[in-house]
Amino acid sequence: MTALIGRDLLGLADLSSTELQELLEMATQLKSQKLQLHCNKVLGLLFSKASTRTRVSFTVAMYQLGGQVIDLLPNVTQVSRGEPIQDTARVLDRYLDVLAIRTFAQQELETFAHYAKIPVINALTDLEHPCQILADLLTIQEYFGTLSGLTLTYVGDGNNVANSLMLGCALAGMNVKIAFPSGYAPDAEIVEKARSIAAGKTEVILTHDAETAAKDAQVLYTDVWASMGQETDADNRLPIFQPYQINQQLLSLADADAIVLHCLPAHRGEEITDEVIEGSQSKVWDQAENRLHAQKALLASILGAK
Ligand code: CP
Ligand code: NVA
Repeated sequence: MTALIGRDLLGLADLSSTELQELLEMATQLKSQKLQLHCNKVLGLLFSKASTRTRVSFTVAMYQLGGQVIDLLPNVTQVSRGEPIQDTARVLDRYLDVLAIRTFAQQELETFAHYAKIPVINALTDLEHPCQILADLLTIQEYFGTLSGLTLTYVGDGNNVANSLMLGCALAGMNVKIAFPSGYAPDAEIVEKARSIAAGKTEVILTHDAETAAKDAQVLYTDVWASMGQETDADNRLPIFQPYQINQQLLSLADADAIVLHCLPAHRGEEITDEVIEGSQSKVWDQAENRLHAQKALLASILGAK
């Protein structure tokens, strides 16, 4: 198994297709407890945005590997008082073995990674959410037994989750369709990168037509219409995004055995109806659980756990 020892994960395309498959395989084995790994290392969490799943799943994953976690809350460290990133990064580098960062600008994460020699993991930026997509792909693979050749349709905002999904699906040999309202497109550079990974073998389709995009999909996926940092625009977005809600009618256009995913937290009645998220095709709780298994595999691989 190719380990990712010492590597950063700043975006999903930092992984090759083979490395992604191997991580998912390791996560599957860790989940079934066919594989047990151990490392006595320390993970730092530096989160400038709220988090339930990412914070708890990283913490539990590290504990289960036999390691320790320090939650570096910005308001109790010098970060909130403006200590420069390059200084914080070089200091944390001397104490920690790995650092997971949740912040706004991707550039901030990249500056951290540049100045810290330890591995740095993207725990969500405005541009990408790669750890989420590892869990999503694990969930899809568990349900369908494969990833290759499946079609995932994401409807909603062309945000961090949409960006990483395009890369993840392309790396996994899946087709991906992103249906979004005009003015809310995913990142153009990431679209190009995903298309170059897909390289004519699979499709990366952008559209404004949610209904056509949902047809024949095996996976329907959505996320909030206003991400963290965009809350003040939330009300303006409600009418614009209404045609992009996952409801029973949209779900009826997908494959009969399609599953529904949402990274959570969800706003019932906005991007997804209560009926769909609580319905039999929703796999959102398995998806949330898989954050733990996928990130445990990632940490184990980066830290060379044995
Ligand atoms: N999906 C996700 O990242 O959830 P949190 O914001 O709770 O970490
Ligand atoms: N797009 C959402 C994902 C939350 C997990 C956000 O950035 O707020």
